[in-house]
Amino acid sequence: MENFEISAIDISMTDQNALKRAVAAKALEYVRPGMKLGLGSGSTAEIFVELLAAHAGGKTLTCVPTSENTAALARKLGLSLAELDDAAPLDLTIDGADEADRDLNLIKGGGGMLLREKIVAAASRKMVVIADSSKLVAKLGKYPLPVEVVAFGHKSSAARLKAVLAAAGYPQVPMSLRQRDGAVFKTDSGNVIYDIAFGAIQDAPKLASAISAVPGVVEHGLFIGIATTLLIAGADKITVIEPGK
Ligand code: A5P
Repeated sequence: MENFEISAIDISMTDQNALKRAVAAKALEYVRPGMKLGLGSGSTAEIFVELLAAHAGGKTLTCVPTSENTAALARKLGLSLAELDDAAPLDLTIDGADEADRDLNLIKGGGGMLLREKIVAAASRKMVVIADSSKLVAKLGKYPLPVEVVAFGHKSSAARLKAVLAAAGYPQVPMSLRQRDGAVFKTDSGNVIYDIAFGAIQDAPKLASAISAVPGVVEHGLFIGIATTLLIAGADKITVIEPGK
């Protein structure tokens, strides 16, 4: 196998799934044989995992999944998996996003996997984000920001968080404890998630620091200065966004 490049992608399509497939295929161009690769979570990342496994070069890779779901899919498809601590630093992580801006800041965690996604991305030399154009925004915050909180005393932590947000210029911001199938949602690490509907985030790095300082907060879905490339699939082309471009 020479490389992972694909010959042609038909991106004359508007269907969101087709856009996800096109951008996932484009991401194969960033993968080289023998790489140590972080595998993201969510529907776009899962399409990427399927394409990777179908590619002849997929068997040469050492993959570190960011969730139990991705691990199960990658294992089923025959990719070689490793523990992060045995493989780090990784060459590259490919993952989706819930929102991205042109400064390569992201909101992630819609699927609840933000903690492992951030740990794996931070342990990677590069992070390529794959998304359809609906995820590219002028200002982050329309998508509710997931904040992962330790289950012990999470209501007290949430009250503290609310006070910190008010002091940071976001009074009475709606905050909801994530539920799934009628029960409180638990992450792969056994924590809970509060989704915070900011509407618009004015200063993402400053907000990220304020949230991180609250006891009980494990991680938040703001990825600041972690992504190195955004691949955004629109109806007729894939846009590559990198620092300085
Ligand atoms: C998972 O926790 C998220 O960070 C996903 O990467 C994000 O929700 C994007 O998912 P989709 O590709 O399904 O939109």
